[in-house]
Amino acid sequence: MKRLYGVGVLGGGGGIGRNHIESFQSSPYAKVLAIAETSDARGEDACRRYRVPDCHQDWRVLLRRKDIQVVSIALPNYLHAEVACAALAAGKHVLLEKPMATSARAAAKIVAAAKRARRVLMVGQNMRFTPDAQRLRTIISAGRLGKISHGRAWWYRRSGIPRIGSWFTQKKFAGGGVCYDLGVHLLDLALHLMDDFRVVSVSGAVSGHLGAKGIGDGSWGKSEIGPRRIFDVEDRAVALIKLQNRATLYLEVTWATFQENDATYGVELFGDKAAASWQPAKVHSMVPGLAKTEQISGGALPYPTDRIVHFMECVARGKTPLVRPEESLQVQRALDGIYASSRTGREVRL
Ligand SMILES: NC(=O)c1ccc[n+]([C@@H]2O[C@H](COP(=O)([O-])OP(=O)(O)OC[C@H]3O[C@@H](n4cnc5c(N)ncnc54)[C@H](O)[C@@H]3O)[C@@H](O)[C@H]2O)c1
Repeated sequence: MKRLYGVGVLGGGGGIGRNHIESFQSSPYAKVLAIAETSDARGEDACRRYRVPDCHQDWRVLLRRKDIQVVSIALPNYLHAEVACAALAAGKHVLLEKPMATSARAAAKIVAAAKRARRVLMVGQNMRFTPDAQRLRTIISAGRLGKISHGRAWWYRRSGIPRIGSWFTQKKFAGGGVCYDLGVHLLDLALHLMDDFRVVSVSGAVSGHLGAKGIGDGSWGKSEIGPRRIFDVEDRAVALIKLQNRATLYLEVTWATFQENDATYGVELFGDKAAASWQPAKVHSMVPGLAKTEQISGGALPYPTDRIVHFMECVARGKTPLVRPEESLQVQRALDGIYASSRTGREVRL
């Protein structure tokens, strides 16, 4: 008989916490029993909407429940490491929102805690699960691009600061700005597609000129806006990242910029047989004298398109998570490298 796992969603009243509840509810292995949420209004609303029996103010109370074996962490970034380590020590399987933590040192503690606890830990890098990413990964693994020597990943938002003055724009709660919010997605996806997480050096620069002037506010996020509308993180990050296999990756992300379109984003990979772009998935090649572009679509996908459905399959059926904790730790190291390089004005070797 199929085993049902009791689930608790920490930060369940927030923007992405609600998405977690819905995703767990679509898994045949999960039953959401409780959320932890400090806002009474958001907690009650989420419980009513998704028919979740209990809302705890204190996440520690939820972690003490024996009927809950799986938790997801959809809390502001500064809480990720403390809560993930406590959850693993309490014997829970953990799905953790990105970024893994607010420093590589803290991220390493989470990875060690998961090893000690022998529980499944996965950072919910949802972009890897998009159909186009899965299709590209499949053809790249089959050698369709040849040896990949360069990648390019970008996300330019015109007015996409989650909300100026919320925890997202305060360093003490978020740890960083657009790097930790959008950069982490694209860096993880690009390295996954390039199949090399061994970052050896980073040269980067970050700045926060627009957000600090109140320009570029967006509408994401449910947490309160502070009275002083603090913005002390970056809204732009640029980096050149070098991998151990000598490939390079150029990353550029903005929360706010002056541009014609609302948002543009993409990942491109350049190999010695062909190049590829993500969403829509396309392969660009050359037959003598003729450039050729082919859209890659259809076919069976190796993974579910919902990262939480996959995570529950790993918990219930002993599968290996597509997003491995060691890879997330490498991504965190590289992101921290961008900040360190920006601070020192030099390339940082990791
Ligand atoms: N994967 C994605 O695409 C994606 C998208 C958005 C956010 N995120 C990540 O998800 C996390 C949450 O972001 P969000 O946009 O949902 O933020 P949010 O502000 O909308 O929600 C956070 C929720 O946590 C609650 N909370 C804060 N402190 C708490 C505590 N101590 N105990 C219990 N509840 C507490 C808040 O009241 C709020 O309801 C962040 O780490 C963010 O980076 C990921």
